[in-house]
Amino acid sequence: MEIAATGVTKQLLETQLSVFPAHQQYLNRRFAGTTADELAFLEQLAILIAKVIDGNVIGYADDYRWLAEAVVDEEIEFRRSGKYRFTSFDEVEKVVYADKVFMTRYMNGLLLSQLWWRNHTDVMRFFCEQYLPGNREGFRHLEIGPGHGLFLYFAAASKNCGSATGWDISPASIDLVRKVHGVIGLNRPVSLELVNIFEGPSARFDSVTFSEVLEHLEEPRRALEVIYDLLEPNGRAFINAPVNSPAPDHISLFGSPEEIVEMIREAGFEVEQTLFAPTTGATLERARKVRLAISTAVIARKPEKKY
Ligand SMILES: C[S@@+](CC[C@H](N)C(=O)[O-])C[C@H]1O[C@@H](n2cnc3c(N)ncnc32)[C@H](O)[C@@H]1O
Repeated sequence: MEIAATGVTKQLLETQLSVFPAHQQYLNRRFAGTTADELAFLEQLAILIAKVIDGNVIGYADDYRWLAEAVVDEEIEFRRSGKYRFTSFDEVEKVVYADKVFMTRYMNGLLLSQLWWRNHTDVMRFFCEQYLPGNREGFRHLEIGPGHGLFLYFAAASKNCGSATGWDISPASIDLVRKVHGVIGLNRPVSLELVNIFEGPSARFDSVTFSEVLEHLEEPRRALEVIYDLLEPNGRAFINAPVNSPAPDHISLFGSPEEIVEMIREAGFEVEQTLFAPTTGATLERARKVRLAISTAVIARKPEKKY
């Protein structure tokens, strides 16, 4: 089957397949039925990602292969037990966040997953096209857990952004974000700090991104309350978390997109918009039925007054 990718997307895809030929069928499914608009967005992402991985495409493609295989191992365990392997933050901190080599491979792989995992591309597009333009002029932005830094890049580069900050618990992530932003070229400084969400400084922002972090926490509800407190009244949050998505560092298992949306409401937010993006190759209906991953992205607002 001929994959519909063109340009830089196609070049990256060819290298990816040379490193990971067993991924051909998966990538066929990923590109099946892709519209011209989606391909154009992918190409924009691919150009940025190619800048970051310049000279080491094979290395990043291999890190992606390593991540995809690790996720398959976790999926097998999940199918057997119905649970995620780890349940405590301390276990994951040792195995993942504090291990620089592991974390760097993981974030490099995650960077390419923005292209190869359809739900990841869908969420990033939703962020760029639906979330960012709705922020007020001069908005002060915070991302908690920027990982590879691509969401933070788009926020900092958006024309109405006033300032941008990133907090992450992993030194490897902070280094990677710095590198990614340096290579892509941002004309606004981004302040990066080694901060655990539960121990952050008191500060106020107009916009907070929290993407793929909720499922890494023992106390996801408390994290949403922290984000609520960090926002100015009328401030907005972009919260994205997957359901039924086993990975080496996922500890909180959510059973449906509605469970996540409800938790966000219970923390005091108004929900403006949602996107439920099923894993590559599945419809939303099938993903619900057989417990496949669904990325759940929510644009939420802190009301002017708490009732
Ligand atoms: C899977 S990555 C998500 C990267 C990116 N936001 C995305 O959506 O692709 C999770 C990130 O959250 C960070 N993280 C995990 N627990 C955290 C905590 N308690 N406080 C701050 N950052 C945390 C990890 O170090 C990692 O960089």
